[in-house]
Amino acid sequence: MLWRSILLFPLLGIAATAASIDNCPGYTLRNVAESDSQITGDLILAGSACNTYGEDLTHLKLLVEYQTNSRLHVKIYDENEQVYQIPKSILDPPSGQQDSSSQQSDLVFEYTKNPFSFAIQRSSSGETIFNTSGTNLIFESQYVRLRTSLPSNPNIYGLGEDSDSFKRETTDYTRTLWNTGQAFLPTHSNLYGSHPIYIEMRDSQAHGVFLSNSNGMDIKINQTAEDGQYLEYNTLGGVLDFYFLSGPAPADVARQYAGVVGLPAQQSYWTYGFHQCKYGYQDVMWVAEVVYNYSQANIPLETMWTDIDYMDLRRTWTLDPERFPLHKMQELVAYLHNHEQHYIMMVDPPVSLNDSASYDAAVSSDVLIQNDNGTTFVATMWPGAVSYVDWFHPNAQSFWTGQIGSFFDDQSGVGVDGMWIDMNEPANFCGYPCSNPVQAAIDGNDPPAPPALRTTWDPLPGFPSDFQPPGTSSRRIKRDTSSANMTGLSGRNLDNPGYTIANGVGALTVGTIWPDLPEYGGYVQYDTHNLYASYMIDASRQGLLARRPAERPFIISRSTFAGDGTRGGHWTGDNASIWAHYLLSIIQNMEFASIFQIPMVGADVCGFNDNTTETLCARWAMLGAWYPFYRNHADISANYQEFYRWPLVTAAAQKAITARFQLLDYFYTAFYQQTVDGSPTTIIPLFFQYPNDPTTLDISYQFFYGPSILVSPVTVEGSESVSLYLPPQDIFYDFWTGERVTPDGTNTLNLDNVTYTDIPVHIRGGSILPLRANAGAANTTTQLRTHDFEILVAPDVDGKASGSLYLDDGKSVKPAQTTYLQFTYDNGHLSVSGSFDYDPGVGFKGVTVLSSSTLSSAGGSNSTNTDSYGRVGTVRQIDEGFSGSWTVDV
Ligand code: GLC
Repeated sequence: MLWRSILLFPLLGIAATAASIDNCPGYTLRNVAESDSQITGDLILAGSACNTYGEDLTHLKLLVEYQTNSRLHVKIYDENEQVYQIPKSILDPPSGQQDSSSQQSDLVFEYTKNPFSFAIQRSSSGETIFNTSGTNLIFESQYVRLRTSLPSNPNIYGLGEDSDSFKRETTDYTRTLWNTGQAFLPTHSNLYGSHPIYIEMRDSQAHGVFLSNSNGMDIKINQTAEDGQYLEYNTLGGVLDFYFLSGPAPADVARQYAGVVGLPAQQSYWTYGFHQCKYGYQDVMWVAEVVYNYSQANIPLETMWTDIDYMDLRRTWTLDPERFPLHKMQELVAYLHNHEQHYIMMVDPPVSLNDSASYDAAVSSDVLIQNDNGTTFVATMWPGAVSYVDWFHPNAQSFWTGQIGSFFDDQSGVGVDGMWIDMNEPANFCGYPCSNPVQAAIDGNDPPAPPALRTTWDPLPGFPSDFQPPGTSSRRIKRDTSSANMTGLSGRNLDNPGYTIANGVGALTVGTIWPDLPEYGGYVQYDTHNLYASYMIDASRQGLLARRPAERPFIISRSTFAGDGTRGGHWTGDNASIWAHYLLSIIQNMEFASIFQIPMVGADVCGFNDNTTETLCARWAMLGAWYPFYRNHADISANYQEFYRWPLVTAAAQKAITARFQLLDYFYTAFYQQTVDGSPTTIIPLFFQYPNDPTTLDISYQFFYGPSILVSPVTVEGSESVSLYLPPQDIFYDFWTGERVTPDGTNTLNLDNVTYTDIPVHIRGGSILPLRANAGAANTTTQLRTHDFEILVAPDVDGKASGSLYLDDGKSVKPAQTTYLQFTYDNGHLSVSGSFDYDPGVGFKGVTVLSSSTLSSAGGSNSTNTDSYGRVGTVRQIDEGFSGSWTVDV
């Protein structure tokens, strides 16, 4: 293509024949220049090229930067800077910063010149946290290898996205990073996202290693008699751009990682409400009916979602004129907005060849990915033949903003409140080489034949007249009792590289668009594949901001890469309605929130594929209420699973949402904290909270929801018992009753009779929680914001506690006023201080202090012994506001 850079193939290897990687000669470090804060040098191939997977690069550069006392940047890259590097337009980690030195830094770079290897040492302990000696660096045009030795049985976390154990396996384990959509989330496979960051815990200290490289790769963790324990990067290209983060607490690593990839975006208050979706709502009436049924069942529904069903033959940017006509969609949105509810629709990335309006707009903007010969690349997705947006094209943003602006226009389009973006790995259903994308769609039954149009439906009181059937019938809730230029070297074999990563679906061409497709500016999909979603999230964010400039855009994306928390959130894709995936969701939430810095995360509640059951859905409704993103979603082939379909699930959801609403401001504050400095304050693994407690390293199914709330769901299917670990460093109170609980000698609390409408939740002693009063009466988060606050104090063993509360208008990108309060409690005295600029228009009406000793009925004039939620403690009614500091004795 004309615009594609013509690259000279650089400095290729000396020998033309390929040899085994074991014979690769490594590199020699020369011309070292060292200052206090920086090391540079040249790396020269140390012998005959082995040319195993492509050709060895003969001249590399080394750059070491002491960026901060806790962050060391080590980069190994080609001399001419032609090898692909992640474009700064999407991820711009710090470079050129040298605010530390080898004397000040907690991480010190040490090296051996020949063969070149390096080690990173923690200066405070002398511990070597990374050491590449023993195996030669390999840097070929299509393969880069670097291995570090590790202590035996290392405690490694991160390196997602996948469905494996939380603490990584250490023998013969491969984590492949190549974004791919795989239903049912198979284990030991790559899934939708790529996050090349790990945290390792050693002797109660944490460090992090981030490899800023978007190429497909295998990260192998193994131990053999010969090589000992190691972790090895095997990438299909790119450069070795490492950020070593010194911790030493896991929370420090999280903050340091945010310093590299960016802080997560703040989300609107309403996004923490409950969301309902399903693939297979056949028409707009059906969608309205679900909204209606939720309200009849008294389950607060905040946001209704519509999947690709709304599209005309599954074509993005169209409405099915019969099933989802524009005027009715507008009425639906108006209804939802009038009831303080929200609406979100699915957007898939490709443009259908049969949707002339958007296709013509895309072609005239020249934004579609083209083949090398200049023709538009065509493949297959839900609507049949499609083409894909080239996000690198300078017109891509204006095209995308235009589509969002017109289709979702608040007056003339469907005024959605956020975007759900999917299939952005990106997915392609046509097998390589895809000679006939149209036929592929027909063969694959894509789109599936639509169900017959409905001719009868039930009335929906409160909805406009054209939502009502001709005549009337009695209203019944349907219930179901069943269940340089840095754009890349030329001359590479992009579709079939010699080194094969363990892509779970097969070759690199399977399930996606071809790696050899060129993109604007000289890039190729081979290098940028894992960033396709990042660009789509970014473009969608800009598009939403253009439409409603003051509002925080809400975007949930299936595929992600490092840094995407800065622009959106994630749901964990097509899980199944099985117990294993209920459990897996806990691990995935901890990883995304605390390690990958994408805290707006959640799994499809009750499970997506296959039919759920009443009991699984009840358990999951209770668990999902402690996800940042709480959405029930199911596949088209699955039974309907809205919470109201079973009495048990209805009761579970009502209880869970009431608890979530009580704590919504507490969690909003926790989330805000993570957006300010990257502190992992949302969904927190236990070892993050208690790094000195080795027992926590193996806990995968308990987590903190914000810094003060410990959630310990039932982990065995069919069981009503939970044995939960209570770290001995703190005391804990039952969230539901307020009673202090006492674990046994092994710090275990054994609970029985945890019914399907229960979930064990405990408050960490030393916490103060600002609760919304009477949360069960709120149907939406907007109503909740009109409720007063009650303060719940859970003292530690010394009778002390603290907490905070952040408030703003709940939606502005830059709120004009904010309030940030600190609560402190010390043996009977509660004081509240901080900044009081935003007035929420409500007050503080009560304080409850839980008893850290035995349960005694509280005495005195200001006391009763249960608060309005039934928690036992010392209760005092108060009447305080938000005009300034105050204190009260309780
Ligand atoms: C994908 C999504 C799923 C959605 C379906 C239809 O499988 O992961 O959530 O329901 O596509 O759009």
